[in-house]
Parts: sequence; C-alpha cells; structure tokens
Amino acid sequence: MELMKKIWEMAKTDRKRIVLPEGDEERTVVAAQKIKELGLADVILVGNVSKIKEKAESIGVNLDGISIEDPETSAKLHDYINAFYEIRKNKGMTLEKAEKIVRDPLYFGTMMVKMDDADGMVSGAVHTTGDLLRPGLQIIKNAPGVSVVSSFFIMMVPGSKYGESGMLLFSDCAVNPNPNADQLAAIAIATADTAKKLCNIDPKVAMLSFSTMGSADHELVDKVRTATAKAKELRPDLLIDGEMQLDAAIVRKVADQKAPSSPVAGNANVLVFPDLQAGNIGYKLVQRFANAEAIGPICQGFAKPINDLSRGCSSDDIVNVVALTAVQAITNK
Ligand code: ACO
Repeated sequence: MELMKKIWEMAKTDRKRIVLPEGDEERTVVAAQKIKELGLADVILVGNVSKIKEKAESIGVNLDGISIEDPETSAKLHDYINAFYEIRKNKGMTLEKAEKIVRDPLYFGTMMVKMDDADGMVSGAVHTTGDLLRPGLQIIKNAPGVSVVSSFFIMMVPGSKYGESGMLLFSDCAVNPNPNADQLAAIAIATADTAKKLCNIDPKVAMLSFSTMGSADHELVDKVRTATAKAKELRPDLLIDGEMQLDAAIVRKVADQKAPSSPVAGNANVLVFPDLQAGNIGYKLVQRFANAEAIGPICQGFAKPINDLSRGCSSDDIVNVVALTAVQAITNK
C-alpha cells in the first residue's frame, strides 16, 4: 500500500526509540524482530527479561539488537516513581501508590516516553484502549495549544472513488465518548492537520450529522453546527464545512442537490463524527461491508506519540503502527 510505504521510508530517515510495554506478547515479539530488520525504529520491549527471552526462543525470534527493560530491575525505576508522584501529587497521588503504579508496564513505558528514554509508545495487543489512554492522558498530556487528545483511522477502501482515491480519515472513533462543540471543533482541526502532515493530502473536512445545512432541527445537530462555525473561525485556512449527511459529504450528485455551494460536500476526505458511538460504529461498518483496511486508531494531540492497537491485531499491524508512531515523533519536532 502506497501510504504505508511512504510512512516506512520516512521512519527510516531518523530512527526513533519506540517502547512496546507488552514485551512478552507473541505478536509483539515477532513485530520487534521485523521492525529491527526493516530499520523502522529502535524497539524497547518492557517486561521480565527471562519471560521475553523464553517467548522469543519458543517462536524462533532473534532478539539481538532489541533492548529489554524490566521495571523490577531497571536503574530508572525510582526516578520514574518520583517523577510520576510529582506529576500526580495534586491529584491525590502518594509515593506509596506511585511505587505500585509505575511498576505496571503501561505506566513504566509511558514514564520512559515522558522522561525522554523513548520517543513513543505502542500498546494494546492485550490491553484495552482505556488502559493505554489513561497513563497517556495523566502523564504525557496534550501538546501545547491542543485542547483535547483524539484519534483517527486511515480508511483505505479498495477500488473506491470516494475520498482521496479510496482513502479517507475518520475521527474520532476511539477516544472522546461525547465531545462538546468546542472539543468537536478541536478534533476537526487536529484531523485536518494530521491529514496534511501524515498523509500528505489537502484536507476537506465534513462535519457529519443526520442533517445537511439546516435540513433538520435538533440539539444534536446544533452541536455539530456550532462546532463547524467554531472550527471555521479558529482556522479559516482550512476547508471545513457542515453540518452534512454522509452522502452529501462524499457523493457529488447528492452534494449538488443538498449543499451546492459547499467547498467540501461531494469531495470530503476527512469525516468528523459527532460522537464516539457514531465514529466507532461508522469505521467498523466501512471496514466490514466495504472490506476496507482500517489503520488505527492513531492518537493525535498528545505531547509525545502514544498509540493503541486492536486486540485482534497481527504482528504486521504492530509494525505499521510503530512506523506511524515513529513518523509522528519525527514530525512533532
Ligand atoms: N484529552 C485530553 N485530556 C483528557 C481527555 C482527552 N480526550 N480525556 C480525559 N482527559 C484527562 C482528564 O481531564 C484527566 O486529567 P487529570 O487527571 O490530569 O485531571 C485525565 O485525562 C484522566 O482522566 P480520567 O477521568 O481518569 O479518565 P477518564 O475516565 O475520563 O478516561 C478515557 C479517559 C480513557 C479516554 C475515556 O474517555 C475512555 O474510555 N474513552 C473511550 C475509549 C474506548 O473504549 N474506545 C473505544 C474502543 S477503541 C476501538 O474500537 C478502536
């Protein structure tokens, strides 16, 4: 796939250190070897050294050149505990609690990123999205100027004429359950910027609803309308429009009828869903019914890149998300 090839090439230009906290998980160990062989990143596996080595040996993976960091024996553990305590003490954190929490590989990996011992983290082969996001939100937090962390999927629909020759970005399908209008505007702007930076496309952002340009009145539509106005006001340089229905966003004929003066309708390549139920259901519908490849969820808005995997991921999916994370670390600079 063309986009992933470009991402791989970019990752290779400036090798980043990516921590994988599920270090003894089989697909993760296989991915670590592939990433090393391809030169996409310098991988750090977190976990018990003997367990990781045993797993690698049992599946014939060579761990030469791959770092392993065991929280229990790490020389950095106490620095991380103290730093975590300092970050969270105004939220009721105690040193005693921090001692336990930072030993959790997900928190340990997040602290490695925070303390500049890694440039990014990828996890989720066995943990849920919330398990990964919570330490990220508590420790890494939003990048300066970003009000909300969100996520996007790159959807690649084979043979489709919609979007950018079948490629569309969908957001937010994984993080914010019920964004308010300000947060929805921030999600639209972040996804437009990501589309430019990571996918090299000129974003045309549709703010999705069950109404097109005032065809229905409801408080749910009002939220999307307000978010659209806010996003346009904040970033007049971007093509963001709405509210609009999905068909008006991507089908030229419908757009001509329902939103003829919109610069986005009929041409949208970034779809912003009104809430997480719509976004999550929407991407899974396209993935299953259109046999689309869904790359993500990729997080956006963290001060340093942290990304999630689906628990059904393959080792190749892990390789791709690590490459994307490395590119985010490169382009975040
Ligand atoms: N952006 C920035 N900061 C945030 C965000 C956000 N989107 N959400 C929460 N925070 C902050 C909070 O303000 C809080 O800050 P503080 O503790 O420093 O004051 C911190 O993050 C932690 O917040 P919590 O309240 O502890 O966490 P919360 O219970 O709100 O959980 C989470 C946040 C995990 C993102 C939650 O909203 C969630 O579970 N989202 C849905 C995840 C999910 O299940 N996705 C679907 C599956 S994924 C898939 O199918 C691909």
